[in-house]
Amino acid sequence: MNIILLGPPGAGKGTQARVLVEERNMVQLSTGDMLREAKDSGTEMGQKVAAVMARGELVTDEIVIGLIREKLETTKAEGFIFDGFPRTLKQADALADLLKDMGQTLDKVVELRVEDEALVKRITARSTCGNCGEVYNDITKPIPADGKCEKCGNTAFKRRADDNEESLKKRLMEYYKQTSPLIGYYYALRVHSRVDGLGEIDAIKSSIAEKLDA
Ligand code: AP5
Ligand code: MG
Repeated sequence: MNIILLGPPGAGKGTQARVLVEERNMVQLSTGDMLREAKDSGTEMGQKVAAVMARGELVTDEIVIGLIREKLETTKAEGFIFDGFPRTLKQADALADLLKDMGQTLDKVVELRVEDEALVKRITARSTCGNCGEVYNDITKPIPADGKCEKCGNTAFKRRADDNEESLKKRLMEYYKQTSPLIGYYYALRVHSRVDGLGEIDAIKSSIAEKLDA
């Protein structure tokens, strides 16, 4: 099964994708994570996109479609979770073509709906494990008291350069302008469903499972 988790910054796409990876043996393809990896490893492309990402703008379609194409060509999986991709109609069309070429389909698109006020609170409190990428939150999911990641025991945590109120304003605007039209696009293709992304992580996990198993 191939699915898209669609939603604004901070909606919980990464958090829920990691649950699906653990429970369903799927592979998470997060273009945001791929771009940050490229930035951290100092590749030419990574350096080129760093400033764009820090401002909260979208990276070009060509770059992200290229990243996804390469992953799909080189990864074997029972199913893919697209997290943060596609973000434009051009990317959505490219994904449809890539899956078709592989003889695969896009099965479900789950939209996580969260109001802006909650997104700001979540994003400004987020940190991630520098080793395994486990997502934490100062308010709702603090780093364990012993300072060790609950998944891998690592003690170094990161905050993202774009997790500030100013970049977030831009990221939200990009979402509403460029990405939210995909809701209608996937509705028309009869693969869209919506989940209330406000609430406990476990409750949202169950709502997503219901949609996937329906
Ligand atoms: P990307 O990395 O995709 O960021 P994003 O879409 O802005 O989304 P986030 O990762 O910020 O949020 P999330 O939904 O994953 O939430 P999370 O689970 O972490 O993209 C970053 C940038 O890269 C873009 O701005 C762009 O520049 C570029 N880019 C990436 N893909 C691109 C593309 N396809 N095209 C063009 N450019 C692209 O949760 C957030 C916080 O909330 C965490 O602290 C978490 O612990 C907490 N939390 C999660 N669920 C709950 C809950 N239910 N209750 C309370 N807290 C919760
Ligand atoms: Mg994410």
